[in-house]
Amino acid sequence: MKVASSNQEGKRAAGESAACLIKDGMVVGLGTGSTVAWTIRKVGEMVESGLDILGVATSYQAEALAIESSIRLTTLSQHPVLDLAIDGADQVDANLFAIKGGGAAHTREKVVACSARKFVVVADESKYVETLSHPVPAEVLPFAARLVERRLKELGGVPVLRLGKMKDGPVITDNGNFVMDVDFGAIVDPAALAAKLCGIPGLVEHGIFDNLDELHLARRAGWR
Ligand code: 5RP
Repeated sequence: MKVASSNQEGKRAAGESAACLIKDGMVVGLGTGSTVAWTIRKVGEMVESGLDILGVATSYQAEALAIESSIRLTTLSQHPVLDLAIDGADQVDANLFAIKGGGAAHTREKVVACSARKFVVVADESKYVETLSHPVPAEVLPFAARLVERRLKELGGVPVLRLGKMKDGPVITDNGNFVMDVDFGAIVDPAALAAKLCGIPGLVEHGIFDNLDELHLARRAGWR
């Protein structure tokens, strides 16, 4: 469900601005996507200059970029509580609810974000809305796909199985599952929808995040 944004300048500004939150000795969750990639590259430069941190990757993409950027990695088994997690988002609203999962990484992203004392989202201004309306990614156990699809429709959603590019058939997540992008139209009560989605058997994780502590939003006119 990823819509390519041409706003590379905004992504870079937001991504790099969050890197200044990282201090020596921290264990940091490293998110997935093209905005937080700017954070990871910037942190890599800081590591080259002597910063001593450990990262926990939210996906194979984040892991590869962290390794390329000379960031030492650890696991949640070794460091169950992180100092900070930084990640991108597909949409963020005025109450700091976010929709994530455009890169099909939202399950691990949520686990990492919830393991952190502070969760920071980086985004360019195109992601900011008054009311969420982006289709909600749902990671789904393949065995449960038809049941989950039926339950999502009962909730008023229109689920679409995410298909691979350069791969025939469905996208398979880093956890070996399917992803459905579920259009609910305008989501006026994201907390209520999130609670309902949590009740669907076989729906591994949904992309509504309610635990943002800080938003680094790049705007042409400045920062927020
Ligand atoms: C991956 C995500 C990403 O953080 C989200 O899709 C934003 O990506 P980008 O910064 O490339 O626009 O949730 O699952």
